[in-house]
Amino acid sequence: MKIYQPAEDSYLLEKYVKKYACRKVLDVGTGSGILARAALEKTSDVLAVDVNKKAVEHVKSLGINAKVSDLFSNVNEKFDLIVFNPPYLPADEKEDEDVALQVAGGKKGHEVIERFLKDAKKHLNKDGKILLLFSSLSGDIEELMKKYGYKFKKLEEQSLFFEKLYVYAIKLR
Ligand SMILES: C[S@@+](CC[C@H](N)C(=O)[O-])C[C@H]1O[C@@H](n2cnc3c(N)ncnc32)[C@H](O)[C@@H]1O
Repeated sequence: MKIYQPAEDSYLLEKYVKKYACRKVLDVGTGSGILARAALEKTSDVLAVDVNKKAVEHVKSLGINAKVSDLFSNVNEKFDLIVFNPPYLPADEKEDEDVALQVAGGKKGHEVIERFLKDAKKHLNKDGKILLLFSSLSGDIEELMKKYGYKFKKLEEQSLFFEKLYVYAIKLR
């Protein structure tokens, strides 16, 4: 299984992780660990998770606290900041499995994000925040944020060749 190599999405979110990280931070879908490392510049209490065992081994080898988890399946604590650069594109049947895990968020592109939003609230401390990245191809994520009881603010959007990327700060209503 390959490890996602940092790209525009990672760098866009990294900028805000450096700004928002405080106290206890969870990096979901850590991949290369780029966002966990950014958080560690601000706080020493960072947990990184990924479904990809290889990514977890790699991040652990960097000295970062990490474990295998399908979103929150293996996470019991609450956090002050949860960051997620998810697989956010609609699945392409021709894609190989490795690539799909990294970039495809389900048939419509937002299934993984929806599962994340549904469970994330149970893992937020009082006044805790989420930093979420997604794309203009991910579907109506604002609608999902409303559905699961969050309020949100768009922090930045970046136009790429065939899509726009968005970074949102999210908290419970
Ligand atoms: C777009 S990559 C982002 C990697 C890294 N955070 C970055 O910004 O470069 C998405 C990551 O989410 C992981 N992932 C996919 N589905 C997941 C799930 N259900 N639970 C945890 N991690 C998942 C993938 O293995 C991949 O490492």
